[in-house]
Amino acid sequence: MTPGLPIAMLAEITHRCPLSCPYCSNPVELTRASAELPAEAWVDLFRQAAALGVLQTHISGGEPASRRDLAQIVAGAREAGLYVNLITSGLGLTLARLRELDSAGVDHVQLSLQGVGPTAADRISGMAGSWDRKMQVARWIAEVGFPLTLNAVVHRQNIDTLPQMIDLALAMGARRIEVATVQFHGWADLNRGALMPSRAQAALARRIVNEAREALRGRMVIDYVPADHHAKFPKACMGGWGSTGLNVTPDGTVLPCHAAQTIPGLTFQNIRDTPLAAIWHDGPAFNAFRGTGWMPEPCQGCARKTVDFGGCRCQAMAIAGDAAATDPVCSLSPLNAAVHAAADAAAAGDSDALTWRRMPKEELRP
Ligand code: SF4
Ligand code: FES
Repeated sequence: MTPGLPIAMLAEITHRCPLSCPYCSNPVELTRASAELPAEAWVDLFRQAAALGVLQTHISGGEPASRRDLAQIVAGAREAGLYVNLITSGLGLTLARLRELDSAGVDHVQLSLQGVGPTAADRISGMAGSWDRKMQVARWIAEVGFPLTLNAVVHRQNIDTLPQMIDLALAMGARRIEVATVQFHGWADLNRGALMPSRAQAALARRIVNEAREALRGRMVIDYVPADHHAKFPKACMGGWGSTGLNVTPDGTVLPCHAAQTIPGLTFQNIRDTPLAAIWHDGPAFNAFRGTGWMPEPCQGCARKTVDFGGCRCQAMAIAGDAAATDPVCSLSPLNAAVHAAADAAAAGDSDALTWRRMPKEELRP
């Protein structure tokens, strides 16, 4: 099939990060600083992306502020005509750097939230003092005047503080709060038994979000991403594989989604040796699950196949052991009952012990 054009590009410019969140969405095998694309290569990539049709880039990591040349990278994206969203924990940003990033072309900031208050936030982030520093950065973001979205990742150990998260977003002057349940890929999968929310928690969170949406209409938007298995049908992951978005890893590997490297047998290409347009149009990984032709039953005969595109390929790989299977979180999948049973068992786990994401200290140096 002829692919459409990508709209958004996630630019993971580094895996370095001073935090150690146990649900980090980066791969378990992290890219070392020495293998990162230089700023000039990112700038060239943004030009190629804009020429291909990309309208916005999400500059992320790791922690993008871990790169000293972040402003140069941002300026390249802006010069290419892209809308620039900076996804950050705030750690490593100063008022001077934020002003520099404003001049370079950041249009919007997404600030992550690990918990409310120093005890919870510092524990989850694995870094003493991270809460205080983040709150300072939030004040600077308001001072510079960036539009702000607060990204609260929720799980069993913090979802009960959702009302306080919403209050915090309001106090920061955020235009939006995204409440996203941990997606159990990468490091998060190592912590499934400690982070999986219960059905009762998820139902309560849904009610709190709905009530807050009513109360805050016109003041702040609230997005809520529940755990996949609490829904009847899966989400259209990436809006459909290879249809609207692409991800680029710190070393320049171009992926159809952030977890695609968990699927064995796919061949990924790198921007160092293949133009982005060729990767998008002809890349074997991008064409592996495009459209609907690859789908098995029950997806093939299902009316929703052009709505959710069979769900998430990486989740199918992780749970069914087959990336071409119907996403097992779909209620029509033969594996769905087992998924619910496994999630309920994980949610009932009585240990809150966490495995934090760690990177060797020498790799943290910019
Ligand atoms: Fe989506 Fe496939 Fe489930 Fe139908 S059977 S709802 S297409 S995942
Ligand atoms: Fe890879 Fe959903 S995360 S397809």
